[in-house]
Amino acid sequence: NTHIPVITIDGPTASGKGTVAQRVAQHLGFHYLDSGALYRLTALSVLRRNVPLDDEHALAKAAEHLHCHFSGAHIFLANEDVSNDIRAEAVGNLASKIAAIPTVRQALYGLQLSFRQHPGLVADGRDMGTVIFPHAGLKVFLTASVEARAQRRYKQLIDKGFSAIMEDLLKDLTERDARDTNRSSAPLKAAEGAHLLDTSAMTADQAVEQVLSWYAATKQV
Ligand code: CDP
Ligand code: CDP
Repeated sequence: NTHIPVITIDGPTASGKGTVAQRVAQHLGFHYLDSGALYRLTALSVLRRNVPLDDEHALAKAAEHLHCHFSGAHIFLANEDVSNDIRAEAVGNLASKIAAIPTVRQALYGLQLSFRQHPGLVADGRDMGTVIFPHAGLKVFLTASVEARAQRRYKQLIDKGFSAIMEDLLKDLTERDARDTNRSSAPLKAAEGAHLLDTSAMTADQAVEQVLSWYAATKQV
């Protein structure tokens, strides 16, 4: 299936990857892979089953045997709708910790590739353009200032009914950025040839327009 078009959108937490990737996918009629959700699902599964967090072998097993499925905007873990539960900051923070373990990443590799189906895929995460789909036709690296990202995440959490404290969020975001960027396995970085897009002063729709116009340009050459 390597001829099926892929657009990768990578970037730090709360840069708008998910929102932009979903809208681009919807516009093009493409499938959508939220790779971060797979790490969040693994984290939630580990928390629910009390897997010891220092047992790398057990963590990799949890990733390998992840019983999940995606249906529209809903995400299921063993038939339970966990779309909201996986968005908790505690789950995101644990996801970022276990995502640093190479055997966990390896366990989720094949599942991510399987999302590449006709007529195309938009995939968002940290290593979509660098590791999972290195030959993607269009690669985007989304960024925004840490303040803009903390504000976006704050609003999202409150809208979902979670409580949030801005100071804690800024600290979490900075720590997560550092962990995702400094790990040795698939660190967060712009892929070679990626288009950089700083959305600090942009709406999500403006970012979507930019990605769509880059995509249109790849089809003209
Ligand atoms: O929504 P947010 O950007 O905060 O996080 P996410 O995309 O849901 O991903 C949660 C965590 O999973 C990140 O902090 C990363 O450490 C990890 N992740 C990763 O390592 N590789 C990916 N392709 C996607 C997420
Ligand atoms: O996936 P990621 O963690 O990178 O971000 P997200 O879950 O898509 O969250 C970004 C939030 O910021 C959403 O509530 C968007 O509506 C909002 N936003 C955006 O995505 N892009 C902008 N340029 C401005 C706001």
